[in-house]
Amino acid sequence: MAAVDYLERIPNNVNLKENRRLLRALEEWQPQFLEWWSEMGPVGYQAKEVYLRTAISVDAKGWAQFGYLRMPEYRWGIFLAEPEPGRVINFGDHKGLPAWQEVPGEHRGTLRRLIVTQGDTEPASVEQQRHLGRTCPSLYDLRNLFQVNVEEGRHLWAMVYLLDAYFGRDGREESEALLQRRSGDRDKPRILGAFNEKTPDWLSYYMFTYFTDRDGKYQLAALAESGFDPLSRTCRFMLTEEAHHMFVGETGIGRIVQRTCQHMREHKTDDVRKFGGIDLPTLQKYLNFHYSVSLDLFGSEISTNAANFYTMGLKGRFEETKKDDDHRLKEATYVVTTLDGDRVVTREESALTTLNERLRDDYITDCARGVARWNETIKRHGIDFELRLPHRGFHRAIGSFAEVRVSPEGRILSEAEWDVKKHEWLPTEDDKAFVQNLMQPVVERGKFANWIAAPARGINGQPIDFEYVRLA
Ligand SMILES: [Fe+2]
Ligand SMILES: [Fe+2]
Repeated sequence: MAAVDYLERIPNNVNLKENRRLLRALEEWQPQFLEWWSEMGPVGYQAKEVYLRTAISVDAKGWAQFGYLRMPEYRWGIFLAEPEPGRVINFGDHKGLPAWQEVPGEHRGTLRRLIVTQGDTEPASVEQQRHLGRTCPSLYDLRNLFQVNVEEGRHLWAMVYLLDAYFGRDGREESEALLQRRSGDRDKPRILGAFNEKTPDWLSYYMFTYFTDRDGKYQLAALAESGFDPLSRTCRFMLTEEAHHMFVGETGIGRIVQRTCQHMREHKTDDVRKFGGIDLPTLQKYLNFHYSVSLDLFGSEISTNAANFYTMGLKGRFEETKKDDDHRLKEATYVVTTLDGDRVVTREESALTTLNERLRDDYITDCARGVARWNETIKRHGIDFELRLPHRGFHRAIGSFAEVRVSPEGRILSEAEWDVKKHEWLPTEDDKAFVQNLMQPVVERGKFANWIAAPARGINGQPIDFEYVRLA
């Protein structure tokens, strides 16, 4: 079961060849996907050999195999984590019943919407990142970008499998629509706001993979708890791929911080821009932006949708089964930070309607860990500066804080105060132009752009100056 069949046109561990109807649907979708990939996937490098990892089995040990591959030849396929024998629904009204192996009829529409919303983010991020290849800071980084891109493509396959296998005709229509929306398009945008933002430079890219891919981790983790077993198993395997995306973000920003500190020490100045480094206040502004748009992805503090997803057994909490409570939450409460007039307050609310906020809290805790590690680097260089996560109300477009202006410290501001100060907190046109300007490609083996340090080690035990992308 764990082995993936690569003799098939669509590699899979779901015994696709026994399911003629599904096989036909996916074989029809495959050329449309490849067309989308060539139209909207990475610009340039499609004919180059890239040192990529491919999943060959889904068990914890050695699921990956590394080798040179042209991206269009990547073996996108369908991989589900191993079934857990006797798995039950672990929360909500159906708690204790056997997990669903087919779509529960009464929750069909809701479940489809959840899958489509998750699925839509996957091609969106590929579209957002498609121009980055031409400004890569190194071959190592270029390879990591492409690894993330092909895996986001595979995540789309994962969701399309669920739609085609379990939702019949309307599932197939949704599968096609996933290839038709476009990130940032005015007429047919991607579903969620952050996935319509541009990722125009590598600083934005690392921030995106740190903050926005981490939202993905929490959404997938909550869906991995689902009572709909195929969704749970699909998401469990996706999470193993997602870990690499966040690694790219965390180490990417960490390496920029390191290089900035080196510039500061070497030239004895905070103003490292003229030496080709990205100053720490600019890093803080980019962090503020990407963190706040990623917080929005969790939705409103109070949400009856979130309550329904839970009660229906479709979407659980982060680490649901490790929690020690009744897993129904009808009587339970949860403390949320919200707005009361023009004051930030904490308030006890129903645990069910506040599930978005609980997931956001888990996410915030996780985000803070990386920030602490970046700060250790700054401290090690003897520099008195701390990167910070801004207040959760800062620069929000969704939820109660969307109605007000909040400073990074959590103070409610007048519109006039905000206008005066926002340039200190969010990237200005000048900041963006400066960062854009730094983005000159470096494609010589073992060389890195001057604004980012080399990584501590290479990929899969290879040296740092390994030929991660063959340009010849
Ligand atoms: Fe993904
Ligand atoms: Fe990702």
